[in-house]
Amino acid sequence: MQVRKAVIPVAGWGTRSLPATKNIPKEMLPIFRKPIVQYIVEEAIGAGLSDVVFVTNQNKKIIEDHFDRNFLLEQVLERGSKTELLKEVREVAEMVDIISVRQKRQLGLGHAVLCAKEVCKNEPFAVMLGDDLMFGKNSGISELLEAAETEGKAAVGVIEVPEDRVHRYGIISGEEFAPGVYHVDKLVEKPKKEDAPSNLAITGRYVLLPQIFDILETQEAGVGGEIQLTDALQGLADQGKLIAVKMQGQRFDAGDWVEYLTANIYFALHDEELHDDLVKRIQEILPCKD
Ligand code: UTP
Repeated sequence: MQVRKAVIPVAGWGTRSLPATKNIPKEMLPIFRKPIVQYIVEEAIGAGLSDVVFVTNQNKKIIEDHFDRNFLLEQVLERGSKTELLKEVREVAEMVDIISVRQKRQLGLGHAVLCAKEVCKNEPFAVMLGDDLMFGKNSGISELLEAAETEGKAAVGVIEVPEDRVHRYGIISGEEFAPGVYHVDKLVEKPKKEDAPSNLAITGRYVLLPQIFDILETQEAGVGGEIQLTDALQGLADQGKLIAVKMQGQRFDAGDWVEYLTANIYFALHDEELHDDLVKRIQEILPCKD
């Protein structure tokens, strides 16, 4: 099995990030120098995925525009001999041709994935959440692709979380059949600490098989009245067609302010030029109690 398409759902309302997201899509908020969604597209391309499919809505056109040319800006940079910036701006436009599908009503992540049915047809495809960042060498969707392609099964990326935080995530149970790779038998959405079958939390990276569309088409709304992807994944797990892969890198859910801010600091600290000044300034403002 060969995966070519990366489906990136970006059609949600981003209510946790209001008021910042009143008119700016959450996926366009910057992490250090780039908008969140650019990191995700770069991860997809780096993993060899050739087609990027955005599931989007009418208020989010600037996401597609970000991956298009901006001739006026390019002229200004050219006239000012800002060659490096010009190169960078052009590279973003040239990195990929975007395919877009619209999610007309925000009925949940499962529904957003279903909107990509006509584009994905009978192919396996990756899903990468538009607000979920994975950083680290060789980390991210490429870790899942290898395992899914070897096993010929769908795969979900998981990370270990502290026991007192399992209630915030979808948690899997399963049997480890190779180091860090599990046959999934159950997925539990936001369990209490005492009911959690493990501390392996689902991240925003998936490799899915086209059968998921049949399941999603009849999937009832679940937690929060939304059509949940996790519920549909249980259908694949019941058929013995779902594995989980423990991911190696750092993961940040940018829809959560602590995670979003930490991701910014993490990235800036990895910039050689900024590192020392940033550490110095953080030390100066700590402890920050007033
Ligand atoms: P989230 O649940 O984190 O995003 O979905 P949200 O619904 O936009 O945010 P909150 O919870 O209201 O703050 C993860 C990803 O799935 C997309 C979102 O855009 C986000 O990138 N999504 C979510 C959709 O495309 N459609 C939906 O119906 C829901």
